[in-house]
Amino acid sequence: MQELIWINGKIIPLSEAHVAIEDRGFQFADGVYEVLRIYGGRMFALGPHLDRLARSCDGISLQMPMKIEKLAGEMREFVERAGVRDGSIYLQISRGASLRNPVFPIKATPTLLFYVRSVVPLPGVGTGAGASLLSVPDERWHRCWIKSTALLANILARNAATEKGCDEAVFVDGEMLSECGSSNLFIVADNQLVTAPVGPRVLPGITREIILGVAAEIGVETQVRPLRRDAAVSANELFICSTMREIIWVSRWDGRTVGDGTCGAITRRLHQALRKAIANECNL
Ligand code: PDD
Repeated sequence: MQELIWINGKIIPLSEAHVAIEDRGFQFADGVYEVLRIYGGRMFALGPHLDRLARSCDGISLQMPMKIEKLAGEMREFVERAGVRDGSIYLQISRGASLRNPVFPIKATPTLLFYVRSVVPLPGVGTGAGASLLSVPDERWHRCWIKSTALLANILARNAATEKGCDEAVFVDGEMLSECGSSNLFIVADNQLVTAPVGPRVLPGITREIILGVAAEIGVETQVRPLRRDAAVSANELFICSTMREIIWVSRWDGRTVGDGTCGAITRRLHQALRKAIANECNL
């Protein structure tokens, strides 16, 4: 099937889509984005993703080029037309094309686009070798609550991890931990689920929020508080989460084995509960 893109109101083949050289998204990373997961042909958590998109736009003083309800409708129609059952949808808004100038243009039409890609379904809960993490200094800006396309610090961190044979980078600032290169971080210590508060250093991950919700439903106590590195190092269970990865249990961190080196019971229960929430919403 031909891959399509929705770009500025038109649906065309992905291979034929272009943005202008002076698009501020291209020249300045002056834009925001979202990544959603499609299960069984339906987008999961569309509302929360679009709410975050609106907050990100606000955060960079960019007016959304379309009302959220209209955008949601266009996305639903597009996903149906794309015919992808298991996939991702990438959406980006940039401030649009204008003469290169750091100052916001008075008149520029934002570039809005989204397209779908197929993905292979994720493996079973608690299976696999678990993720290995590498600590890296947090050199990002302090507005990480904005889902900005300016991801160079994240990309460098993630590649530093890859070079060391690790799957993900954990951002460390002195004794504190925030989140990972492209995922949020949770620890389980003394049967409590702990994650850092969202804000300057932590993206309000949609998966993170849903996990906090299902934890309450299945009776797992949660705490949102600053995460100390030493607490995480001695945690019984550790996992990362994101739209594309759901939950991945962590087996190694900076070369040391986490817990007993297997997927912990609480992580497993949370992942099962997350899958149930996905199945309910997407009619799987
Ligand atoms: N990234 N933290 C960072 C820095 C991220 O980039 C992401 C997701 C998350 C998890 O957020 P969510 O649960 O809403 O996916 C946390 C996306 C998937 C990406 O850049 O591909």
